[in-house]
Amino acid sequence: MPEQETMGARAGGGTSKAALAYAASLDADAVMAAEDIWGSEAHAIMLARQGIIDEGDLGEMLRCLRQARAALEAGELELRPELEDIHMNVERYVREGAGPEVAGRLHTARSRNDQVVTDSRLHLRARILDIQDSLADLQEALLDLAEAHAETVMPGYTHVQHAQPITVGFWASGHGSVFARDQKRLEAAFKTTNVCPLGSCALAGTSFPIDRQLTAELLGFDGVLQHALDAVGTRDFAAETLAALAILMSNVSKLAEELVLWTSYEFRALELADEFAFGSSIMPQKKNPCIAELARAKTAAVYGNLLNELVLIKGTPGGYNRDLQEDKPPLWRAAADVSATVGILAPVIRSLKINTDRLRELSGANFATATELANHLVRELHLPFRRSHHIVGTVVQQLIDEAKTFADLSRVQALLAAEGVEVAEEQLSDILDPERCVRRMTSLGGTAPEQVRTMIERLRTGVASSRERVCARRQQCAQARKRTADIVEGVLSGAKLGDVL
Ligand code: ARG
Repeated sequence: MPEQETMGARAGGGTSKAALAYAASLDADAVMAAEDIWGSEAHAIMLARQGIIDEGDLGEMLRCLRQARAALEAGELELRPELEDIHMNVERYVREGAGPEVAGRLHTARSRNDQVVTDSRLHLRARILDIQDSLADLQEALLDLAEAHAETVMPGYTHVQHAQPITVGFWASGHGSVFARDQKRLEAAFKTTNVCPLGSCALAGTSFPIDRQLTAELLGFDGVLQHALDAVGTRDFAAETLAALAILMSNVSKLAEELVLWTSYEFRALELADEFAFGSSIMPQKKNPCIAELARAKTAAVYGNLLNELVLIKGTPGGYNRDLQEDKPPLWRAAADVSATVGILAPVIRSLKINTDRLRELSGANFATATELANHLVRELHLPFRRSHHIVGTVVQQLIDEAKTFADLSRVQALLAAEGVEVAEEQLSDILDPERCVRRMTSLGGTAPEQVRTMIERLRTGVASSRERVCARRQQCAQARKRTADIVEGVLSGAKLGDVL
């Protein structure tokens, strides 16, 4: 195919091989091949419906595009680097199958500027839905764990120091609560992404009587991104999605950090299932939490991808700039890293062993019920909280000096008495017991099992509705795909376009 017939430079001298190789985007484009073919089918159908091309040409175009699709599905789509990008490679199938006249007409009222960003949006929206589904799996794994351990006490930490007893259910549902917001951010990113730029052409729209609504419908978009200059020049949907992914990964990374810390010998609170743990090539005793470590590390990469995108777009003047070609590698890399990370964490969480005895021991070991003792003095003896805080602090310091803990109830009682506070030993044992302490935390959103169970229920309802919305989105995309495919089949079996559209 003579390059001049596709997009030869104005000077007609032909762009050098080296320049073409440098500018090629096939690596990042290859994943959008199916979308590029679909977009071309929709565009061709619209052109014919509007009388811009005739139905004979439409049939030829659709026949060649069907061949390209078959090659893609067989893993045999030929992508020639000298043709720069996916658009020219797909067009080559039309050119070679139907000749330059027909192929040349396919590009009427279309530019690679609106084509590429249409493909990107089509591909990205599917990636967002995949991630939402994997995230729902992870949320469910956390909520199942939370339900199973609604009563299992563990130390709650602030500053990685024992703070107050909580339950494993409270901890796990806490991550579930965080991820509910990530789902919302992904939904918002999907909405921003799922609008159609096709028909914007190079930047200014076109003098042909195109129907942008029709192409948007055939491609399963929610609507048209109307302003042509905006539509070809913006990549804010990519930045918004990357921001949602980066924030999601920040939350994933915090969970991963806890897995690393709490599976250590010093904590011994959790144990990874063997299938998700790694050995050492030299140290036979090792059981390393490599997945959680890599989750933390991939978070760094996703932040990098977001920054890459933001810096990429900040200096581009209005309209399409070739810089924008470089938006796809960070986008696809981030989507792949997030999918893989969220995807593997669900079974990691499901197979976690919770060392309940160890957690019980830790939650009572280091004065974590001191706040509850101070609360008791406020409740029963009407002391101001600051005073009760001071008294309990003094008692704790004494116990530490004597190498004792709250387990030594008679000593605690004596020390309190020395501060002028009488508490019966039986009452002390009730106040200082981590399990009973947790059960008293019944304020809204507190760690008491009944509060945790209510929150789990609410979060489960949220996950179910996220799943429903994802499912409805998928159906919308699949129906549009089927509608286009049915029109293509209709035209190729000899029907008039008007009868199948
Ligand atoms: N490969 C290009 C990209 O990804 C396609 C659009 C090229 N447009 C142009 N005017 N050179 O952005």
